[in-house]
This record gives sequence, structure tokens and C-alpha cells, in this order.
Amino acid sequence: MTGLRFDGQVVIVTGAGAGLGRAYAHLFASRGAKVVVNDLGGSRHGDGSSSKAADTVVEEIKRNGGNAVPDYNSVVEGEKIVKTALDNFGRIDILINNAGILRDKSFARISDQDWDLIQNVHLKGSFKTSQAAFPIMKKQKFGRIVMTSSNSGLYGNFGQANYSAAKMALVGLAKTIAIEGASSNVYCNVIVPTAASRLTQDILPPEIYDELKPELIAPVVGYLSHESCSENGSIIEAAAGWAGKCSIVRSNGSVLRSNIKDNVTLENVKENWGKIVDMSDAKTFQSIQDVTGALVGSLEGQAGTTGDSGVDSGSENEDIFNFSDRDTILYALGVGASLKNPKELKFLYENHEDFQTLPTFYILPSLQANFNSDFTAAVPGKDVNLSQVLHGEQYLEVFGDLQSEGQLISKVTIAEVLDKGSGAVVVTNVDSLNQKGDLVARNQIVIFAVGAGNFGGPRTGTKTIPCQNKPDRSPDASVVQKTSIDQAALYRLSGDRNPLHIDPGMAAVSGFDRPILHGLCSLGFSVRAVLETFADYDASLFKACKVRFTKPVIPGQSLRVDMWKVNNRIHFETIVVETNTAVITGAYVDLKSVKLSQVPPNMSDSNLKSDAIFEFIIEQVNADPSKAKSIGGVFLYNITKDGKQVKQWTMDLKNAKVFQGTPEGKPSTTLTISDEDFLLLAEGKLQPQQAFMKGKLKITGNLMLAQKLAPLLKTNAKL
Ligand code: NAI
Repeated sequence: MTGLRFDGQVVIVTGAGAGLGRAYAHLFASRGAKVVVNDLGGSRHGDGSSSKAADTVVEEIKRNGGNAVPDYNSVVEGEKIVKTALDNFGRIDILINNAGILRDKSFARISDQDWDLIQNVHLKGSFKTSQAAFPIMKKQKFGRIVMTSSNSGLYGNFGQANYSAAKMALVGLAKTIAIEGASSNVYCNVIVPTAASRLTQDILPPEIYDELKPELIAPVVGYLSHESCSENGSIIEAAAGWAGKCSIVRSNGSVLRSNIKDNVTLENVKENWGKIVDMSDAKTFQSIQDVTGALVGSLEGQAGTTGDSGVDSGSENEDIFNFSDRDTILYALGVGASLKNPKELKFLYENHEDFQTLPTFYILPSLQANFNSDFTAAVPGKDVNLSQVLHGEQYLEVFGDLQSEGQLISKVTIAEVLDKGSGAVVVTNVDSLNQKGDLVARNQIVIFAVGAGNFGGPRTGTKTIPCQNKPDRSPDASVVQKTSIDQAALYRLSGDRNPLHIDPGMAAVSGFDRPILHGLCSLGFSVRAVLETFADYDASLFKACKVRFTKPVIPGQSLRVDMWKVNNRIHFETIVVETNTAVITGAYVDLKSVKLSQVPPNMSDSNLKSDAIFEFIIEQVNADPSKAKSIGGVFLYNITKDGKQVKQWTMDLKNAKVFQGTPEGKPSTTLTISDEDFLLLAEGKLQPQQAFMKGKLKITGNLMLAQKLAPLLKTNAKL
């Protein structure tokens, strides 16, 4: 049999002695799985037990050439069923929680026993069996769990209150397991079947009963369980050779008061009832965070920030930004581009054959649009004064070729408003489109409004693009640039004419000794330094950047940009040299690729002996990648000289890649050794154990793995 298979995998199907479960067990076995056929063998109402049901299905599977074992435990002792899988097959990959019974009574007549039995078999049984299998699946980084719900649960059904309650509870259980298992490739979904079985023989209309074969549902459950299926946390209905996804939907609803300071009255609710229950533009939500986000949106509406203010309200929030090469050149001068450096001529001269716009110029339209959007009205119940707002963070991503003239139309939306107590954080997203309607730049602006906190909003959000910590090592490169005393006077001509940056009186009112430089100007200096060092001034290699502004800069101070390369991401931090104060932190530039005109000083010591050895290792690994992969692990080498770290190399043997710099994730083992000792090791003149004992070789992380490296290094004895 070709196609989707389960060879080597172990599947538990509960209640597999009849009906749907039997069909599932047959399908999995026919596709190569080893199956635990669980069934208590009781009656339709949950009375009695017998091994016959499970045994019969196991015999059928074996007769067809499959592999299966019976299990007669009740699902309420789910751990025993998982033990059967482990004892017989040594693992568990897929669990289908299917066992079920009925105790139908009209709601008024349900006894405690009818209630408890149904909850136990359906809900507790699925809980117990899944909880026993879940840690094993997480550990092996693969698992698929299917819960069985019912249309009775989703919609209710006369005479099935106990059953409906248990079946809907399984949806909640599945959705949370889906969230908790996702990072370990353990997915959990819900099947809502309709099939002919002993449970439905007197419920389903006879004319369609014969068409509802369980075998028509089994492939849907099979696919949901397959490693190639990435569905997670979904409710899938299947019947009669059809399948579809069900979802919980919510109406657009209605704000119940005109101002956040007002109370809500019963009459308000009555007046708005039509809108509250109007499902014509209902939405589905993917997560609890999305629902909370929508609530915050509704709060903003109540504060009167949307609609009238022009934020988030269709065409009114669109802002037009016209620019020409005069603007891009003025901006480049404003952020320190200079003819002192011949390579920067291309940012300053429109007839240059490679005339380019600095990518950070594309922050300007977002700032103008944000300023015009009246974002200060976004904090519910607070009047935000422009003189009290600080630019906290900035994100920029650019798309396509960067033009040096044209018109951009920017749309502002408020992503989230956070309550930090001492102030409010207003996060706005600004998309800038060219006249053809293509997205050219996406900005996110984080503004801190001092004193506008305590309005009852959430403290943390989900929409703010996070800053990133710099690597824990000395920088790979640093560039120092002196700003001019007139830097802010020049930069403000690019648009931000806030007097704080030029008027001494205004600076004093805001608590500064002198006018301060625009944070975005320091950002422009910093990104230029990154482009110089890691992109050979090629602006087209820029993809995105994110920064956090932590302290002001005074025009005339010198900025040192410390940079760390981690693949195509350049982390950086900007420091005022005179005061040794970090002014931009948590920052990075993402490049499409790195282009080095010269290897940065701290990455460049060309006289290192270890370089030749690593080059040799690269050749070896390339020649026989499978040998490297058989060792596995990710090794980070810190090479030192005269007691200082001078270079880093990564040997990612998992992927058979050896390169200069640090690995993307955490290395399995970090080795620190001097350049000279590394040569001695490679030549076989120094034994690794000896080097370790004498403190010449420091190893952190997985020590055992490091010992496996010996063969790879020994071959280098030839060197
Ligand atoms: P079925 O009665 O043919 O099969 C259920 C099996 O579960 C039986 O073999 C039974 O012995 C076993 N079982 C009952 N209690 C058990 C326990 N405590 N431990 C181990 N095994 C136990 O029923 P059917 O229709 O195949 O139902 C399978 C699942 O699908 C059930 O969860 C049911 O609620 C659900 N379902 C079925 C629908 C249908 O149209 N057939 C509709 C909606 C949901």
C-alpha cells in the first residue's frame, strides 16, 4: 500500500470493539500501525463487561495481516491502556479517544448515577488516557490525540443533557491540550462523527442509517492523526463521505454606552439587543488572546478614539506623504551620511549611477501619519499631552525596491494600548503603500505617555514586536561616529519639528539642560553603521529593524554602535561615548544577506592558526556530511589569544555546517581554547583530557558529546 502510512507507529483506539472505533482500528492496522484495540465490552448503557468485543476485532485485524493486541480496561483507568501499548509495542504515537455510552433521559429525570457514569466514560476517560500518553508524546516530540465530541454537545439534543455536557467539555479539553502540546509537535483535535452504530440505531432516521457507514469517517480520523497533518485544536465534523470544520463564532456585538465613564443600564442592553445578537458579520477567533484583543478594541471605541478621531476608521486615517530625491538626500545628511566617506556618495547625489535611499527614510511617512492620526486620544478616559509623550520603540520593515521619489499612502491602526501604571503605552501599526497599492513599508511605533496610566487597561499585550537581547559576548564590530552640534537642527528639516530638539526654553520645560537629538536620528546613525559593516553600504540588503530608545543624546556627542552578527541578524546597541551610556538597546537589523567589504575587526584576526584547522574541518564535513551528522550536536568554539576572545566558530554537526560566528539556537557544547592550544590539539600534541584537566580547554554544556569529536579532530593530525 502506498500513500499515507503509519509504519512503526503505535495507535490506541478506545472503544474499538464496535462501531466507529472498530473502523478506525482496521484503517490504522491496514496502513501499517500496531494497534491497541481497547474495549470494555459492556452494554450500550455501560453495564457489564466482556473481552469478546476487543478480541473479535484483534482477530479480524490479524486475519487481514495486521498487528494488534486487545485491551479490556475501562477508559477511566486510561493509564492501564497506555501501559498495554508500552508493554506490547514499547511506544505510543496516536491516541483516539472514542469509547462511549449513552444514558438518555429527559433533563428532569437524570439521576446522579446517569450523570456521573456519562461524565466518567466520556470526559474522565479521555482525560485519564490522554494524560497518561501526553508526557510520552511530548518527550518524543510527536503525538496525535483525537477526542470524540458530538453534535449533541455542540447544539444540544433532547434527552441528552448529561451526554451533551460531557461532549462539549471534550472540546475545551482538546483545545487546551492543543495549546500545551503544540511546541512539542503533539496535536489534539476533535472529531464530530455521525455514523450508524448501536448508539444511533434508534436516533438516526432509518432512511439514512444505512448510508452512514463508520468506514466513511475513519479516513478523516486517520488523516488528523498522520504526521503530515498540522491541524491542531480544531473541531472536524464528518459523516457520509463529507467532512468540514466547525468553529465557535461571535457576533460583531455592540458597545453599550457612549462613554467609558458611564455605567451600563438594563435599558442600554435592551436598546442594543438587535446588534448584540446580529450574526450577519460574525467572526471566528483563533485564540483567547485574539478575543481579549477584540475587547481592548471595544474599550478604545468606548473612549471615543475610533470613529470620530480618524484612527482605525477607513479612509479618514489615511495620510499622504509626498517625497522627492531632495527629501531622501536631506534625510541622509540628517543621519550623518557624509562625503568624507566616498561609499556614501550614492545616498547624497541623485545622478550617482547607484543612487539609493537609506531604508530608515521609510520611517518618516509612518511618523507623519501617526502624528496626524490623533493617537493621543487612544488612552481611555485620559487626555494625553503631546509634551509628555516619549518615543519608546520603533520597528521598520521594507518591501520591494526603495524608491527615491513618489507618493506614499499610510494607514494607521492602533495595535494595543497598555496600562503601565506610571503611564500608558500606545502601540500603532502603520502600513505605507505606493500609488500602485503595493505595501512598501510597515512600521510599528511604541509611544509612552507619561502620567496617562491607571485607566484599567491590560499591562502586557501581544501585538508589540519584541526587542531582542544582544548575544552574551563582546561585540563582533564597533563603529564610532561623532554627531554634529547642528545634528538636530539638520535632522528636523526631514519632518519632526518638535521644538524640544532645537528650542532651549522648550527643552528646559521638558526637564533637559539642552535640546536633545531625535531618537530616530540616532537610529539612522546606527543603521548606517550596520549597513557599513555588514552590507558594504548596500541599502537593498536591508529587510527590517527594531530598536528601543532608552536615553537621550545631546547633539555633538559621539555614538558608538556595538554590533553582533548572528546569521543575517545584526544585533546592536548604541552608546554615547562621552558618558558611556546606552541610548539604544535590544536592537537589531535583519539583512537579506550579509556582504562584508572587510571582515570586522573583532572577527578578523587573520593570523589565527585555528582558522586553517577550521577550513580543513569545513572541507572534511563537506566531503562527508553523513560522518559529521553521525556525531551530531552543535559546538561553539571560543578561540582566545592572549587571554581575550578573538573569534568564534560554530560546528553544527546536526546539519553538517561549520561556519564563523555563533549558532542560531543554543549550542549543545561550548568549548573555549586558545588559538595555540587548538593547533596542538589538532596536531595530536595535546590530549583533550589533559588540556581539560589543566584548564587549557574549558567546556560547558554537554561534555559527553564533546568526547565524540575526537575522531573529527584526530584526522587533523596530518596538518
Ligand atoms: P458503539 O457503541 O458502537 O461503540 C462504542 C464502544 O465503546 C463500544 O464497543 C463499547 O463497549 C465501548 N466502551 C463503552 N464504554 C467503555 C469504557 N468505559 N471503556 C472502554 N470501552 C468502552 O458507538 P459508536 O457510535 O461507535 O460511538 C463511538 C464514539 O462516537 C462515542 O464516543 C460516541 O459518543 C461518539 N459519537 C457517535 C456518533 C454516531 O453517530 N455514532 C455521533 C456522535 C458521537
